[in-house]
This record gives sequence, structure tokens and C-alpha cells, in this order.
Amino acid sequence: MKSDALLAILKRRGVLWPTAEIYGGAAGLYDYGPLGTALKRRIEDAWRHWFVGLSEDYYWIEPSEILPEAVVRASGHLENFTDPEVTCGKCGHAFRADTLLEKVRPDGIDGLPPAEIAKLLQEAGSRCPNCGSEALSVPRPFNLMFGLDYGVTGKERAYLRPETAQDSYLAFPRMWDVGRRALPLGIAIVGKAYRNEIAPRQVLFRMRSFTQAELQIFFDPADFTVPLDAVADDLLPILSAERRLGGAEAPVDRTVRELVDTGTLPAFYAYYLAVSVRFYREVLGHPKESLRLLEKSDAERAFYNRIQYDIEAHLDSLGGYKELGAVHYRGDYDLGRHGQGSQKDLSVAKEGGGRVLPHVLELTFGVDRNLWALADRHLVVEPTGEGESRNLWRLPGWLAPVTVGVFPLLKKEHAALARSIAQELRRRGIAAEFDVSGSIGKRYARMDEAGAPFCITVDGETLDPAHPNHGTVTVRARDSKQQERLPVAALAERLLAETRPPGFGDPPAGA
Ligand code: GAP
Repeated sequence: MKSDALLAILKRRGVLWPTAEIYGGAAGLYDYGPLGTALKRRIEDAWRHWFVGLSEDYYWIEPSEILPEAVVRASGHLENFTDPEVTCGKCGHAFRADTLLEKVRPDGIDGLPPAEIAKLLQEAGSRCPNCGSEALSVPRPFNLMFGLDYGVTGKERAYLRPETAQDSYLAFPRMWDVGRRALPLGIAIVGKAYRNEIAPRQVLFRMRSFTQAELQIFFDPADFTVPLDAVADDLLPILSAERRLGGAEAPVDRTVRELVDTGTLPAFYAYYLAVSVRFYREVLGHPKESLRLLEKSDAERAFYNRIQYDIEAHLDSLGGYKELGAVHYRGDYDLGRHGQGSQKDLSVAKEGGGRVLPHVLELTFGVDRNLWALADRHLVVEPTGEGESRNLWRLPGWLAPVTVGVFPLLKKEHAALARSIAQELRRRGIAAEFDVSGSIGKRYARMDEAGAPFCITVDGETLDPAHPNHGTVTVRARDSKQQERLPVAALAERLLAETRPPGFGDPPAGA
């Protein structure tokens, strides 16, 4: 489905809409409605269940979104967290130079100096997308952080965090004491990050306020063993920087074992890349063929990274592969910089004696982008015959914002029992929605579009003590439209079993 059509459905169903819509919207800001909020929470819960569940030494914390200037100075964001900005000399609109050069440089311009970017713009005959003028400025590095006047004197500077990661580095010494004082130690944060993007676009893909789920794994580089055998045969769709810069776009499948044995990747990195890919497949339901692991070259990598593979999915709505998350080997950059900035020794005691400044492996995940990707991948228009179709959101059960629609067949006779079944299911922690309006067909259609994997109907047989189906309801499965009768007393267990998010290493759903 094209982006506009998808956005229209999501807006109509109250999944999301532009912030301050009645004022014409605000660039790069979106609000989530009831379905969107529930879906987003499910994605975050499933992420946390999978990644924080990887080890008992991985913790989830919720720190501040505001960082003192000293933090972003030490982290390098004050100096380096920039995008090349070009202003039109005629109309004054600002643009990202890499966006203007997208057609001639699809791989981007990361690492190129401003003069070279200016030359590329000239050679490409770039014009202002707003007014068509050729009077484009030489690109300048534009810092993406939102600065704040902090406190009452106006003399203190602070910043909205540009990535949740920074809070984990600040929390590390405290968490070392709170935890088992052992490496590897993981700190996970799910929360807002803020970037003053020059040109917000593609709905949830370049926002100014967005949610990240990030796990920072602190480890001793001389002693970081991983259970590689658990993923050794997994096929990873790799697009190396070398092949890509040579013009290739398609990934090549390589096993984890092969990547490690050939020295392409360290074992710990290959292991966590595989664990991440399994999350995209087993929890989010992206087929392997739609995924690509794109290696960033030395020049392209973020300033803090030693190894960077972006995790991309092919999205029809946006016409190509799009980055949804990444695995970053940040080395000792972060604790080194914050050690210097704070004048604190952030090294820790090793078990066998001596000290080590931990290295960091970061698993980063953009929640909003992934929410869009779930709509792109799973929201389909399914022909139902005779020129008819239904909008069907085939979300995995554990992600569906509504688990079950509960309907009375007849409003007068069956509504009381249907309503009380919905209430009881909600009491058991199941997202049940009572719906009485319109025909049963219309109610099914609404639930199919909301992604509810099940619908329950209370009918005359449910209430008739003389009928063999007394005390049972029809349960209709969203995708197959198959119906079965189940006792009311068995509903909660069945629905909970079908909608429990998988953890790493669990048998695949349905096995
Ligand atoms: N801590 C590392 C970090 O922040 P990043 O590649 O800048 O790395 C990580 O961002 C993820 O956050 C991206 O893969 C993407 O999913 C999401 N993200 C980044 N900028 C975004 C934006 N402006 N709007 C929505 N999501 C964004």
C-alpha cells in the first residue's frame, strides 16, 4: 500500500495523527490515538520481554530526558551531532544536503566535507525544492539537539536527549553497585529522544520527538563469551559496505558461523545481530526476505561506532529498504568520554584482578518506525470475492492493540452477557472490546482493520440451557475467518496463550 493510503487508514482509525492538527500540524510531530497507543505499548513490551529477558544482569531503567550541557559536550554531541544543512538564498527554506542529493547519491554523503558536498550539489544541478532557485548556500553543519534554557537564571544550558543511550552511560556506575558488580551488564531504556531534524518527512521516519528502545551491553573486551551455537546456523542477509559501495543493493545470506570463522565479525557482535534479526522475524513477523543488514563504511559510521550494521526492512509504502534499528559496537568511546568529562574513574574491577573500562554494544530500535513498518507489512486489502474486499491488519496476536472483539448477536437479548464477558476478559488482562453497533459483518470488519486476532459472538445457543452449546460462544479467527465454539470459562486461558509474546529461544508460535 502507498504511504498516503496507509496514513489515511491509520488516521481514520485513530491510530495516529499530526500533532496540533487543528493548527495545520507541526512538522515532525505525531500523536497516537487509542489503537496507536495500545500498539506502541505492545511493541515496547515485546521488545523489553525479548531483549531485557536475555540475561538476569540486564536491567530496565527510566532516567531523565533532559541532560546538562556537560553531558552532551563530553559525549561529543555538541560538536558532532550535525547534519549538512543548505539554505535557499531566495525563499529562505532549509534542506538536508543528503536529501537533495538522494537521486545521484543514494548511499548518502556521510563523511564528506562541506566543500565537496557543495560541488556535488552544483554538478547535480540541484535547485531549491520549494521555489526552484539555484541559489543554494554552501552546506553547514547544523546541530540537531534541542537546547533548553534551564533553571531560573537562564545561565544554565541543558538539552533534550538526542538518544536514550546517554542516560545508560551516566547510570553505569550506579547500576554497577545496584547490580551484581559483574560484566556483562545491560541497561535498557525505552523512551523519548528529540532531534531538531532539518527536514522531517515520511511520517514516523524522521520525527522531531520519537521513541527509542535501546539496550547498552557493557562488557570486558578480553572476556565476552556468547552462546554462539544457539544461532550459529542462522542465515543473516548481509549487504557489506564493500559490495554496496560497488553498486550492489541485494543482501547475501551468510551464516553466523561463517561470519565469525572468516573474521568478518567478532562472535559477540554476530551473536547479537542474529538475536536482533530473530526479534524482527519471530516477534514482529517480518519475513527474512524483506530484511537487510547494511554495513556502514568507516566514513559513514556514526562518530562513536567501530562496527555498525543498520537493520532495514523493505517497505512498499516508502518504496524501498528503510532503517528500523541497528547494532552498534561503540568500543570504550562512551565511558572513556564521560570518564574524562566527569573526572570520575568509570573503570571496574575484573574478577581475576586488575581493572577494565567496559566497552559497549548497543542494540537500538526505533519504536515509531517499527510501528509504521508493522502497518506496512501486515495491513493489507484482501479480496473477499465479487469485487468486495476487507482491510485486514494481520498483526501477530501479541502485538494486536485489541485482542478480541466481543459481540452480542442480538442487541436486546445477548448484550448483557456479551458485555460481562468483555469485562471479565479485561479483568484478566486481555484487551477485549465490546461492540454492539451495526451488523455483525460491520463489527468483524472494524475488528479486522484494528488487527484483533479474535472475535467472540454471544448468541441464542449460549443462553439456552436446553441447547448442547449452552455456555459456549463462537470464536472467529481473524485471518482464516474459521469459527469454533468454546466454553466461556475457557476463553481467557486460550486468548492469553495465543497472545503471549515470545522470548528469545522459545519454540516458534504454534510449535
Ligand atoms: N543510540 C544510537 C542512535 O541513536 P541512530 O541511528 O541515530 O542511533 C537509532 O538512531 C534508531 O532510532 C534508528 O534506527 C531509528 O529507528 C530511530 N530514529 C532515529 N532518528 C529518528 C527520527 N528522526 N525519527 C524517528 N526515528 C528515528
